[in-house]
Amino acid sequence: MKLIYLHPLPIRIWHWVNAAGFIVLILTGANIRGIVNLFSVETAVEIHSWLGFILLANYCIWLFYYLLTLKIKIYIPPLHHPIEFAKKALRQAKFYGLGIMVGEQNPHHSTPDNKFNPMQQVSYLMIMALLIPVQIITGLFLWDPKLFAPIVNPIGIQIFDMIHILLWIFFSAFMIVHFYLATLGHTPLAHIIAMFTGYEEEHEEHGHEEHSH
Ligand code: HEM
Repeated sequence: MKLIYLHPLPIRIWHWVNAAGFIVLILTGANIRGIVNLFSVETAVEIHSWLGFILLANYCIWLFYYLLTLKIKIYIPPLHHPIEFAKKALRQAKFYGLGIMVGEQNPHHSTPDNKFNPMQQVSYLMIMALLIPVQIITGLFLWDPKLFAPIVNPIGIQIFDMIHILLWIFFSAFMIVHFYLATLGHTPLAHIIAMFTGYEEEHEEHGHEEHSH
C-alpha cells in the first residue's frame, strides 16, 4: 500500500466550505420557494445571500489555485485524442454500471497530474467552469436586480430566475450522485477521508490501467 498526495490544502478547504455551503444554499433556496419551512422566508433570504457571497469568495480560492499553479490542466479532457478519450469514458461508465457490481477494479488510476477519470473530467469541468459561475451570476442578479438593471431589464428577471432554479435542481441531483460515487473507494469512507487528509491510499490491486482487464 502506497500513499499518494492527491488533494492540496487550498482545494481541500475550498471543497469542504463549498460542500457545507451548497447544502445550506440548497435548503434555504427550497425555503425561499416554500418547499421546506425551516426559517421565515426573510431569514432564509438573508442566509442564502450571505452564503452566496461566501461561496463566491471561496470559488476564487479554487480558481486562483488552479490557474496560478497551471494545474487546471487536470480538468481539461484530452480532446486531441477524441477516440481514445471516448473509449476510456465508456470503459469508466461500464465500470460504474456493471464492473463494480462484479468485483472488477476501477480502470482509472489517480495521480496528482491525472487525477480525474474521463467522466469526472467532463462533469467537474462543466460544473466549475460553467455551472457554478452561471449560478453565482444569476444569484447576484436576483440579489439586487436594480443594481444590474442594464443587463437584467432587457432580458427579464424571470429568465435569470428560471436558470437559477434549473441549476438548483441540477446541483441537488449532482450532490446525490457525487456522494454515491464518493463512497466507491476501497472502503466507503476512503475517498471522503482523503479529501480531508489530502492522501489517498493506493492498493496494489488498484494497479495500472493496462492490467485491469
Ligand atoms: C457532502 C457533500 C460532498 C461530498 C461528501 C463530496 C466528496 C468528494 C470527494 C470524496 C472528492 C474526491 C474524489 C473525487 O475527485 O471525486 C470530491 C471532489 C470534488 N468535489 Fe465533492 N463532495 C461533496 C460536495 C461537493 C459539491 C457541492 C461540489 C460542487 C458543486 C463538489 C465538487 C467537487 C469537485 C469539483 C471535486 C474535484 C476537486 C479537485 O480535486 O479539484 N463536491 N468530492
